[in-house]
Amino acid sequence: MAVIFTFLVFFISVLLLSSLFLVGTGRRRRPPLPPGPKGWALLGNLLQLGTKPHRTLQALSQSHGSAGLLRLRLGTVDAIVISSASAAAKCFRSHDAILTSRPPNSVGKYITYNFEDLIMAPYGPRWQMLRKVCSTHLLSTKALDSFRHVWDEDVAMDVRELTSGREAAVDVGGLVNTCVTNALAHVLIGRQEIVGGEEAAEFKEIAAEMTTLAGQFNVGHFIPWIGWLDLQDLNKKMMKSRVRFGEFLEKIIEEHSSKGIDYAKDFLSVLIQINGEPNAKHDELTNINIKALLQDMFIAGTDTTSITIEWLLSELLRHPHILARAQHELDSVAGRNRLISQSDLPKVPFLDAIVKETLRLHPPVPLSVPRMATEDCEIDGYLIPKGAYLLVNIWAIGRDLATWHDDPNEFDPDRFVPGSPHESADVKGINNFELIPFGAGRRRCAGTKLGIRMVHFVTAMMLHAFDWTLPDGSMGDLLDMEESYGATMPKTRPLMAKATPRLAPQAYL
Ligand code: HEM
Repeated sequence: MAVIFTFLVFFISVLLLSSLFLVGTGRRRRPPLPPGPKGWALLGNLLQLGTKPHRTLQALSQSHGSAGLLRLRLGTVDAIVISSASAAAKCFRSHDAILTSRPPNSVGKYITYNFEDLIMAPYGPRWQMLRKVCSTHLLSTKALDSFRHVWDEDVAMDVRELTSGREAAVDVGGLVNTCVTNALAHVLIGRQEIVGGEEAAEFKEIAAEMTTLAGQFNVGHFIPWIGWLDLQDLNKKMMKSRVRFGEFLEKIIEEHSSKGIDYAKDFLSVLIQINGEPNAKHDELTNINIKALLQDMFIAGTDTTSITIEWLLSELLRHPHILARAQHELDSVAGRNRLISQSDLPKVPFLDAIVKETLRLHPPVPLSVPRMATEDCEIDGYLIPKGAYLLVNIWAIGRDLATWHDDPNEFDPDRFVPGSPHESADVKGINNFELIPFGAGRRRCAGTKLGIRMVHFVTAMMLHAFDWTLPDGSMGDLLDMEESYGATMPKTRPLMAKATPRLAPQAYL
């Protein structure tokens, strides 16, 4: 009897121990990758992305993904696509540090001086140093306030120019791009006209080319052992653009250094000063860093803001009652006898709602700048493996049905006005993730405050100072709203519209 009892105790103990062991090892088993569509051998899903990847990825996420998480195989690389606010929140609340680096791809190598800039720098002390320099001296509220008067005057000058005998329709995107490039140039390099005539056109052309090249899905990133073949000629083109843009920047930097510097005046002066300090805290800031940072700011800051404003005005021309409401709000704050100024902006909540709604439907960066996982991590029971690309589909998150129940494709700024369900939506990507046009987490857009301020101010000025109509009395609802895709998402066909002054004549003097 005692033998049987001892045997039973032994048997049960073995069972218990082995089940505990199984549970233990079960927990340690690697979770599966998120679900995704089957792909081709070697190329994986690369050929499925199409010419508007943000739209394709939204459709694939809906048909193959799970709660906004989708896995693609791009060549030999795993790519995890985030298409919902809830998945974005899980990434950036719980795993931000792991998902903060950029992939070491040819964009960083050929466009941004071998990762010597801020946008493509790997996450680490150098990235932190570059980000701090930009935040402190250019992109903080304090820095922005210090050049408020400069912008009030710059943008007023552009408005005056628009009133002088222009009967014909204007290319709105081109006009706004010149306006924001000059305003940005003023604070970056201390002169308003970046370059004149043909040079200005070339400057804009290279900036646009760089953005388009950076946004291409480069086969060499995903099948690294054929990268050297440069099958799409992208590396060659990127290098050429960087050299052309570099020539502009070198001229500007040389001029700046030789003229003597007014440290209080502009960002480049501050960079040169930091670079020249013998025992500086920032002694890591090299000449190449200076060139790369200036390039970053021009490339990241001009297209994004002007594209947003062009989409915004296009939507208002399709919705004249919303345009009229916005103008009424601006009149109630500034009247009709003077131009609007930046100090008026906190008093125009409906304009703020219009900007948010534009950024939701037409985010100028539809797929965020890629990130790379530096460790394995787990989201919703799925593995995000070390080395995977993380692609955040900002465009799809703005249409995520779980957040935007009421007709997400409709342009309706009232979603954001006081008293509405999304009144507290915040575009900064720090605590809220339902609307993240500037990305999210610690690697979110460094120029968010500057971008928001430029979009608000230039839009307010345009809507307050002018009535806008389409050429030949065309109806707004026939306006072409087709989008193109590079790293940014401009309109395929530029918006042409006629500006008619609507304020008292002395307001424009
Ligand atoms: C409407 C305007 C803008 C939009 C929608 C926008 C959007 C974005 C997005 C989506 C990213 C990627 C963030 C991520 O990885 O999560 C980004 C990065 C960045 N943006 Fe912007 N941007 C705008 C304006 C600006 C301006 C005006 C500047 C500066 C002059 C700027 C400078 C940067 C920089 C430096 C980064 C890289 C940050 C880093 O890697 O640490 N952006 N932006």
